[in-house]
Amino acid sequence: MASKPREQWTSRAGFILAAVGSAVGLGNMWRFPYLTAKHGGAAFVLLYVTIAAAISVPIMLAEFVIGRGSGKSPVAALRHFGGDRWRPLGWLFVATGFLIVAYYTVISGWTLRYMLEGLWRGFGGDTRAHFEQVATGWDAVGWQVALATINVAIIAGGVKAGIERMSVVLMPLLFALVAALAVYAAFLPGGGEGYRYYLQTSSTKALTLSVLLDAAGQAFFSLSLGMGAMLTYASYLSKEENLPRSALIVAGADFAVALVAGLVVFPMIFAFGLQADVNDSTTGALFITLPRAFASMGGTGHVVGVLFFAVLLVGALTSAMSLLEVVVSTAIDGLGWSRRRAVLVLGLATTALGVPAALDLSVLDVMDKLAGNVMLLIGGLGLAIFTGWVMHNPVAEARRGAEAVRWWPAWMFLLRYVVPAVLAVLVWTSIRQLLGW
Ligand code: PHE
Repeated sequence: MASKPREQWTSRAGFILAAVGSAVGLGNMWRFPYLTAKHGGAAFVLLYVTIAAAISVPIMLAEFVIGRGSGKSPVAALRHFGGDRWRPLGWLFVATGFLIVAYYTVISGWTLRYMLEGLWRGFGGDTRAHFEQVATGWDAVGWQVALATINVAIIAGGVKAGIERMSVVLMPLLFALVAALAVYAAFLPGGGEGYRYYLQTSSTKALTLSVLLDAAGQAFFSLSLGMGAMLTYASYLSKEENLPRSALIVAGADFAVALVAGLVVFPMIFAFGLQADVNDSTTGALFITLPRAFASMGGTGHVVGVLFFAVLLVGALTSAMSLLEVVVSTAIDGLGWSRRRAVLVLGLATTALGVPAALDLSVLDVMDKLAGNVMLLIGGLGLAIFTGWVMHNPVAEARRGAEAVRWWPAWMFLLRYVVPAVLAVLVWTSIRQLLGW
C-alpha cells in the first residue's frame, strides 16, 4: 500500500472543470446532435433531459458519494462500503474504462491529425478518401500512439499537476470556442434550414424502446457514468464539497455543450448544401462532411475548421484523461504501484488493445457498442442497487457540504426503484440488439 497521503484537488473549480472535462467529449460533439436529428428534434432533447435528470444525475451523485466517502478508486471504494462481494462491480468499471480508453484514443488520434493538418494546409480535396486513409491502417495507429503518449504524460503528472492543471486551462477555452463557433454559424446564409433539421419535432417519430435506449446510452456515455470516472475524480475531493450541486453543474454544462454543438454543426452543413451526407451513422459526418463545409468557406473555413477540431481535441483529451485515470488509480491503490509505473504499463496495455480498432473500423464499432450501450448501463444498474439498497446510509455522506438540500427522499426513491427498473429493461434490450435477437 502506498503510504503517501492521497492527492486532492487544489480548488472546487479544479474538481468541477476536471469532471466537466471528463463529461464533455466526442459524445457531445457528434453523437448528441446526430441522435437528436435522427430521433425527432426537440422531442428527443426533452426525452434526453428527462432521462438525464431522473437517471443520470442520481447515478452521478451516487458515484460522487461513493468516491468522496471512501477516498478510494472503484474496486477499493465498493469494497469499503459493501464488502468483498461488491468488488466484481469495481472490476467491471475498470474493464469498461480499459475498453473505452482503448478505442477512444484511436478517434482522438484522428482528431489530433485533423487539427494539425488543418493548421498546415487547410481542408479540402476528396475528404472521404482522406478519412479512409486517416481511419485505417498504420496511419491510424501512429496517431493513436501520439495521442496516447500525450495522455500518459498528463496522467503521469498526477491529479493536481496533470489533470487539474490541464482542465482549468483547456475547459474554459473549449467553452469560449464553442460559443464563438455557434455565433459564426448563426450568420451563415442558408443555415436556418440546419436548425430546423436539428430541432424540429417530427410528429411521425414514435417513442420506441430503441429510441429510449439511445437516449439512455447517450446520457451515460456523455456524462462518463457507469464506469467509475466520476467516482475516481470525487475520491480526490475534500469533505466540504456540495455534491448535489456539483452533479447538477456537471450535467448542465455537458448538456449545454452538446446542445450548442448541434447549433454549430448543422447550420454549417446545410449552408453548403451537404445535408445528403448526414445520413451517415458513423463518425463520418464529423470527419468527412464538415471538412467539406470548411473547404467551401474559403479562407475563413481554414480558421473555423482548425478551431472546430481544436474543440474536438480538447474534449476528447480531457475525457481520455479520466478514462486512463480510473485504470491507473486502481493499480496504484490495489497493487501498490507507483503512479509512474502504473501509467506506463497501463498506457501501453490500453494502446495495444486499441490497435485492432485503429486498424479496422468495424472492430471499433463493436467495442463502442459493447462498452457504451451494454457495460455502462450494467455499471449504472449496479451502482443504483448498491447505493439504494446495500450501502449504509448514503444520505448521511451525501449531505456533508450540502445541508440545505431537501431532495434526498427523491434521490433514494429514484435509485431504489426507478433507475433499476428502467436500466434492467434497457440492458436487456441492448444485449438483444447486440446479439441480433
Ligand atoms: N463522456 C465522454 C464523451 O462524451 C466519454 C467518456 C465515457 C469519458 C466514459 C469517460 C468515461 O465523449
